[in-house]
Amino acid sequence: MLSVLFTYFHPIDRAAIFTHIKTASEQVGIVGDKNVASVAERLKAELDSPGLVLSEPGEMAAYTTDWTHKFSGVTPAVLRPRDTAEVARSVLACRKLGLALVPQGGNTGLVGGSVPRAGEVVLSLSRLNAIESFDPASATVQVQAGVVLQALHEDLVARGCVFPVDLGARGSCQIGGMIATNAGGIKVLRYGHMREQVLGLEVVLADGTVLGSLNSLKKNNTGLDLKHTFIGSEGMLGIITRAVLQVRPAPQAVQTALLALDTRERLPELLTMLRERLRGLSSLEIITRESIALYQEVEPGTREPFDKAYPACVIVEEETGAGTSERDGFLERLSSVIESGLAADAVVAESDAQAQGIWRLRDGVTEAIGRAGLTHKFDVTVPPGALPEFLAEMERFGDEAGGLRTLLFGHLGDGNVHVNMMQKPELSEDEFYAKGPALAERIYSHVAALKGSISAEHGIGIAKRDYLHHSRTVEEINLMRGMKQLLDPGGILNPGVLFENA
Ligand code: FAD
Ligand code: LAC
Ligand code: ZN
Repeated sequence: MLSVLFTYFHPIDRAAIFTHIKTASEQVGIVGDKNVASVAERLKAELDSPGLVLSEPGEMAAYTTDWTHKFSGVTPAVLRPRDTAEVARSVLACRKLGLALVPQGGNTGLVGGSVPRAGEVVLSLSRLNAIESFDPASATVQVQAGVVLQALHEDLVARGCVFPVDLGARGSCQIGGMIATNAGGIKVLRYGHMREQVLGLEVVLADGTVLGSLNSLKKNNTGLDLKHTFIGSEGMLGIITRAVLQVRPAPQAVQTALLALDTRERLPELLTMLRERLRGLSSLEIITRESIALYQEVEPGTREPFDKAYPACVIVEEETGAGTSERDGFLERLSSVIESGLAADAVVAESDAQAQGIWRLRDGVTEAIGRAGLTHKFDVTVPPGALPEFLAEMERFGDEAGGLRTLLFGHLGDGNVHVNMMQKPELSEDEFYAKGPALAERIYSHVAALKGSISAEHGIGIAKRDYLHHSRTVEEINLMRGMKQLLDPGGILNPGVLFENA
């Protein structure tokens, strides 16, 4: 049965997120700097510019703990340059004083790479927040690195265009941070990651050089495409200060539905059928029962989307032409999926507000996990054919580890599962953390055996560096180390990210 119903999901109060989580700064090595005050004074003397150097503990607090509250550290100062020249001056000042630095965007990264670990200076890109130019003929936009994703989305509405990368952290994450992590999100299956959207970059190197590579041409085969060196480099090869991005025409209409599945066993078939029938498929996300249950616990009063609790729900979004016949076509396509038995029921949004309600469930799961407690996070890809067994294995691993609640959801269309293992109340914080390494080793070796990836979209940061060998060969890792040595011989840019003692 295809029901055109709508369920209201309550929004989560973002401000409340941070009051619910206990910090665990001991998770990473933090070296307190005895001369913190004098370091800040020396930086101020070098960088004589109002508001550039913050050194009051109250002012710096938001920059030193990450979104997960699992990673935090002390810093002598937070630098907040306003333009590329000030970024370059900041790098040179740090270099002169022998200080390492951590580039920071919106601080929404989930692998511990955006906050200090051993007394590094934080270099925030937040004040480089101009959308500088828009070229309709090439459908490109040039932005500074600190532009927040949502601000770019909103700016493009009036131009009839979209920037096709979207993710739950859109209200805080910045274009520079998204490029540095090669962010993915909910539209990768149609439009690709950040990498596919970037045409040109401007980067400040570890020696203060400004590498201007603001190409805006689609075709430019003139030697090595240097931007790719920095996309996904997590702040350890250079500081991204500007980007030229490809934008796309806004779709005429977007159809959104929530499907109920009464089994996870047929996910590969469902994926195949949806891809084949919904030619404008732009998002395909899965939320399993336990994740929906957690969302309902964190947001009491949230109604069950269907008349019974199904083992999993899938969000389907298709970009279509405008008009009733296009919408009817979408409904027919979904009906055929239900008739095939691959989905048991569907809720179809009848307005933008209803579509947003469906998406609130998806975004809300990530936020609910952040609010509910400490979590070991594993963001992995597996071949889609392996998904049913993989999901069951993850639940088994969680049960066998003891005292953990396994929450599974993610970007179904990409085979990207977010495996979250949350602390149950009976487990102390120490006991919870003690389980992390063995669990990670077990999950990542299983992923490697399936020929998956230990990091689908969040990067390596600090959290995954000990497991990089599960997804990369020795030769690949050695080449990466060589590139780090070439571009940052003094090791001042985000040390400890990707490799220990890089
Ligand atoms: P930060 O967290 O500040 O930094 C991330 C890394 O990039 C750090 O290593 C930092 O040093 C480096 N960096 C930051 N700015 C620069 C710069 N200008 N130059 C060089 N290095 C820099 N990620 C996904 O891929 N897909 C998702 O669907 C997704 N959903 C999320 C949902 C929520 C609720 C949250 C909290 C996070 C989510 N993330 C997701 C993770 C995160 O939002 C992305 O990785 C995002 O790209 C990080 O951007 P940021 O500006 O916050 O970077
Ligand atoms: C998401 C983050 C966790 O997809 O990547 O919600
Ligand atoms: Zn994700």
